[in-house]
Parts: sequence; structure tokens; C-alpha cells
Amino acid sequence: MHLQLLLKLQPLTFILWSWWSIHDAEADPQILLLNKGCSQYNATNLSNFNQNLNASLSDIKSQVTNQSKHFATAHQSLGADPVYALFQCRNYLSNTDCAACFATAATQIRNCSAGANGARVIYDGCFLRYESNGFFDETTLPGNSMICGNNTANGGATAFSGAAQKVLKDLQKATPKVTGFFAATKTQVAGSALYAIAQCAETVTENGCVNCLNVGYTNIESCLPNTDGRAFDAGCFMRYSETSFFADNQAIDITPFLKQGGSRKKGAIIGGVVGGVGLIVILLALFVWLKLNKKTKRAPRGDILGATELKGPVNYRYKDLKSATKNFSDENKLGEGGFGDVYKGTLKNGKIVAVKKLLLGQSNKIDENFESEVKLISNVHHRNLVRLLGCCSKGQERILVYEYMANNSLDRFLFGEKKGSLNWKQRYDITLGMARGLAYLHEDFHVCIIHRDIKTNNILLDDDLQPRIADFGLARLLPEDKSHLSTRFAGTLGYTAPEYALHGQLSVKADTYSYGVVVLEIVSGQKSSELRADVDGDFLLQRAWKLYERNMHLELVDKTLESDEYEPEEVKKIIEIALLCTQASAATRPTMSEVVVLLKSKNLLQNMKPTMPVFVESNYRSRPETSTSSGSSTSNATVSTSILSAR
Ligand SMILES: *[C@@H]1O[C@H](CO)[C@@H](O)[C@H](O)[C@H]1NC(C)=O
Ligand SMILES: *[C@@H]1O[C@H](CO)[C@@H](O)[C@H](O)[C@H]1NC(C)=O
Ligand SMILES: *[C@@H]1O[C@H](CO)[C@@H](O)[C@H](O)[C@H]1NC(C)=O
Ligand SMILES: *[C@@H]1O[C@H](CO)[C@@H](O)[C@H](O)[C@H]1NC(C)=O
Ligand SMILES: *[C@@H]1O[C@H](CO)[C@@H](O)[C@H](O)[C@H]1NC(C)=O
Ligand SMILES: *[C@@H]1O[C@H](CO)[C@@H](O)[C@H](O)[C@H]1NC(C)=O
Repeated sequence: MHLQLLLKLQPLTFILWSWWSIHDAEADPQILLLNKGCSQYNATNLSNFNQNLNASLSDIKSQVTNQSKHFATAHQSLGADPVYALFQCRNYLSNTDCAACFATAATQIRNCSAGANGARVIYDGCFLRYESNGFFDETTLPGNSMICGNNTANGGATAFSGAAQKVLKDLQKATPKVTGFFAATKTQVAGSALYAIAQCAETVTENGCVNCLNVGYTNIESCLPNTDGRAFDAGCFMRYSETSFFADNQAIDITPFLKQGGSRKKGAIIGGVVGGVGLIVILLALFVWLKLNKKTKRAPRGDILGATELKGPVNYRYKDLKSATKNFSDENKLGEGGFGDVYKGTLKNGKIVAVKKLLLGQSNKIDENFESEVKLISNVHHRNLVRLLGCCSKGQERILVYEYMANNSLDRFLFGEKKGSLNWKQRYDITLGMARGLAYLHEDFHVCIIHRDIKTNNILLDDDLQPRIADFGLARLLPEDKSHLSTRFAGTLGYTAPEYALHGQLSVKADTYSYGVVVLEIVSGQKSSELRADVDGDFLLQRAWKLYERNMHLELVDKTLESDEYEPEEVKKIIEIALLCTQASAATRPTMSEVVVLLKSKNLLQNMKPTMPVFVESNYRSRPETSTSSGSSTSNATVSTSILSAR
């Protein structure tokens, strides 16, 4: 009878509680689940592991509830399966809300399969994670991402974006310098209030916080001009909204934290730690860091975000890579390319990696630069770029170790065994993700990296079919070599920009060109280098241009796509963007960040008309019957990418 009464009461109390929480702005634990993840690896001894996990969570619980802490860590290591746990509330939550958020998180985190040796849950209000190894200093890991709201700011979207960008950039800069690594701001932006916060785990270093928020900023910035955005990562969190999500009195003035060292270049290698202290300290730190890095050959370790956290690249042992790839056996071969063959490797700890054995000539120049370039490139972190985990040098052998992407490369989905399996939404996402990755390489990383070899085999797809650009920075690792150029520039109509192929003139716009070609391939399912008998024997770019001129470019769309799964206007727009990217004159092609804006905007494209791509042009000229249409097009090279540059 008692039980029945209880069952009856419970819904009522629940309703009362929710009513109360809606009507009292003070009480809101903000338990909207943003992200969760489970390790794929199981603990070895379940009973030990469960004891350790329970003990860690109850340790944290007592710190949060009894000591009102907003940040807590715990560690238990009975037997073979230690557990490390970390919990953090957003600082603006009340003690009660923080405890409530923990209670939700602690329940939810057990929803992985029994024995999963790592898991995380991220809420608006708090973050909980446990692992079988220490991870408290981890900052940014692949798997970092953002969640955007779906309302666009009304009024001037551009004005809102510009102002919000500044607010977020300032927060990113200031937060690592604030004690406790948390800052909240309220700013008037384009006629309304903008609430924003940034937070790092208290156990990371200031430099770690800087790095994490750099990545967070890149993620969250891509939500603009939406009115809401959140970015999360292993060591930090950012959020902005036009709607208030913390009390006004939590906001602080961050301008004092922006003044010192304000002129430092963004994301310099040593990052923000050394704010204005002086060159000697930097050099000293660099020296010590290099020394330490030489000595500790850190074993890579798995974790729930699916990859390995590195303070620098790992120096793998040749022996280990050899056994991981079964002596570089053919059965482990994933692919071959101009720069070398790639093998699937399983490391001793079970982690699967992609191992690239570089094909090298006999150049000494490599020896001097190889490791420092690897260091540089392994610092590139972006969700649309394949992570370089480390390297190995033995004799003349140079080997690179990358994250492994089980889905392999885009060409298989467009032309290979999985042809026809990508729907329109997935194709659009790939188009946008590639543009973001390239924009990061060109403009946001502290060294501009030109890829030089964008093509469908270099675009890998992750488990969610999001694109990851592979092999960037290889040009930096390998000596400038004409033969590479000629192997890549195969035939007349490939991916290579004409000015680069013919005159060796290299700029970021060469990547823009190749990107445009790949986009046409994504839309059409036709290879750029393939002549198709069924479509007038034209190369893809020619065909696209001809159809565009007759306003029939929807004809280009892959016939395996159902016509009800895409909006014709959107597809047309994307084809036109691809044509803008493949224009003959490099100067008139948009930059990759402009491409991102174009892809996301509804109507920016109206007054931008692509001019004719070079190969189409020369081809037209050699054919008298169409020469009339080419005569005008060369002179009206008046594409105005300037609306964007003025942004
Ligand atoms: C797990 O560890 C405990 C204590 O160390 C031991 O008694 C138990 O037999 C182990 N269980 C398994 C399945 O190995
Ligand atoms: C750990 O806690 C869970 C849930 O609270 C419980 O079901 C389990 O029996 C506990 N395990 C151990 C070993 O204490
Ligand atoms: C909190 O403190 C009370 C006594 O003050 C204690 O009984 C309880 O076990 C503590 N809670 C936790 C989770 O440790
Ligand atoms: C736990 O996971 C199962 C399936 O994996 C899901 O159906 C259930 O809703 C989850 N529980 C919670 C509390 O999220
Ligand atoms: C881990 O254990 C779950 C069941 O608890 C099982 O389904 C899963 O396959 C195991 N994973 C591994 C990698 O052994
Ligand atoms: C997006 O909009 C829909 C309907 O307008 C709404 O139901 C949904 O919750 C929104 N999603 C987010 C993340 O705000």
C-alpha cells in the first residue's frame, strides 16, 4: 500500500517541481545534454572497476554537495582498473543547481555499456568525465565540436555576427588570464543583449586553456549569425546566447585582461603563457620543452574522444610500427599515393592508426626539417582535418602516423564501391566541412598552410560521414620536387589550378580551385578527369560551365539523388560557388572563409557571376562554333568578391 501511494505521489511531485523550476529563474540546473560519449574499451575486472567508479563518483559528490565545490576531481585505483573522474559546473550555477546537475550527470554517465572504461557527459550546466588513466590536463581532442541554435539574429545578421565575434574573441583571450579560468560577459550587440561565457577545467595550464579556447572559438564562431551557440572540448566550454542564461550580476568586465600582451600574434606556438615576459623566458621555455620532449617518449593512449592527446607529436619506434602493420603487409594497405603508401596499423594498446610510409629521394634537407615540421603540423587541430599523431625516422625511412578513419575516403563514396550511398544533406555537410578545414589551414592556423593536393582521395570521412582533410602539410615535409608536381598534375583537366600547373604560381587560391573541382564531383558523382560518352564527351568542368550558361546546371546533379531530397536553389547555388572557385584568374576566386560564408548564406550570391574557367575557355576557343560566347567572357572578369572582403 505504501508503495502504491509512493507511485501515485511521484508524478505529482515531479510536476510540482518542474512548475516550480520554470517559475523560479534561480533554480535551473541547466541539464540540457549537449554531448555524451562512451569508451569502446571495457575494464578488465568489472568488480574492481565498479568499486573504483562508485568511490570516485561519491568522492566528487561529497565535494560538490557537502563542500559546495564547482570543480572537483577524484581518483581511485584498487586493483587493475583505476578510475579518474573530473566534474565541473559553470561557475554561475547556484550550489543547489550544481549539485542537481551532478546528480543528473552521474546517473547518465552510467548509461554506457557495463564496464566501459571511460565516459563523458556534457550539459549546459556541467561536465562529468571519467577515464582509466589521468586526463585532468587534457585540453583539446578530436571530437571537439559545437551545437548551434537554429534562429538567426533578426535585424542585421552581419552586424550581429561581427559584434558577437569580437565578444567571443575577447572572451577567448581573457579567460585564460582570469583566476579560475571562467568569465561571463553581457554586451549590447546590434540592439540586443549578448550573454557569453568561456570556461576551462581548473586542472589545465594557462597555455592549455589558451589552446583549448582557440579551438573552441573556431567552432563556436561558425554558429554565427545564429542567436545561440555552444562549443565544447575536453578541457573547455564556450557558450553565447541572446537569451539570458546567467544572472546579470555574474558578468564581469574583462577589459583589464585584454590589455596586457594584447599585441601578441594569435596562437603563436608558445601560446599565451608568457604574456609580455620577454624573449629570454620564451627561449628558455622552448629549450626546456624540447629537452623534455626528446626524453619522454610518451606512449599513446586511447580515450573516449576517440584519439590521443598529445603535448607534442609522439616519436614512434620503427619496430612498433612494423609489428602494428604486420611488416607493412599488403593486406594492411589502405591506399597508395604519390607521397607514399598508407597502412592500417594496430598499436599494442589496441588503438588503430593509419601509418604512412613516405617515398623519399636522397635529400639531406629532409633531415634538418622533418621533425620540426612534424611538430608544427601535429599542432593543427580542427574537426575537419585529420590529426597527425606522430612520426618515426629510421635511416632513410620517414613514417607518419595519423588518426585512422574507418570510412576511408570520399572517392569510394562517389565513384567506388559505395557509389550512390551519400544523400544530399551528407554531401552538403561534406562541402561545408571541407571549406571550414581549408579556411582553418589558410587563415586561422598561425602559419598559412597550403594543401596543394586537394582531391577526393584526400578527403576522409569519419564515423558521422563528416569530412576530414588528410595529408595537409606534406608539401612542408617533403623537399620541393618537380616530379611530385608532375605526378599530381595528370592530364589536362585535373584538380590543379592552371596557374600552378603551368607556371608554378602557388597561392591559397590553388586550393580554392581544387576545392571547386571536388565540389562539382560531389554534386555530380562524375570524376573530374573522366570523359563521359553519355554527356557529350565533356570533362566535368566543361560540362558544368556549359550547363550553367544555359541555366540548366541542375542537370549536373547525380542521378542517384532523389529529386525530393534537395532544394534546387541550394544545389544551383553550390554549383555556382564551385564555378566561382574554378575561375581562370586566381584573384577572382573567393578565399575559403568567403566560401564558408557563401555556403551558409541564402542570398549573397545574387550579384556574383563566375567567369569562365580556363580549360573550358581554351577549349571553346579551339572550337569555332562556340567562339562567340567566349569572346565576351574573358573581358568581363568583374566578379565581385569584394562584398565579402569588405566584411
Ligand atoms: C577481480 O579482482 C578481485 C580482487 O582483486 C578478484 O578477487 C577477482 O577474482 C577478480 N575477478 C576477475 C574476473 O578476475
Ligand atoms: C556501484 O553503484 C551502482 C549504482 O549506484 C550499483 O548498482 C553497483 O552495485 C555499485 N557497485 C559496486 C561494486 O559498489
Ligand atoms: C555529507 O556530509 C554528511 C555529514 O555532514 C555525511 O553524512 C555525508 O556522507 C556526506 N556526503 C557525502 C556524499 O559524503
Ligand atoms: C540509456 O540508453 C538507452 C539506449 O542506449 C536509451 O534508450 C535510454 O533512454 C538511455 N537512458 C537515459 C537516461 O538517457
Ligand atoms: C564490452 O562489454 C560489452 C557488454 O558489457 C560488450 O557488448 C562489448 O562488446 C564489450 N566491448 C569490448 C571491446 O570488448
Ligand atoms: C529548432 O527549431 C525547432 C522548431 O522551430 C525546435 O523544435 C527545436 O527545438 C530547435 N532546435 C534547437 C537546437 O534550438
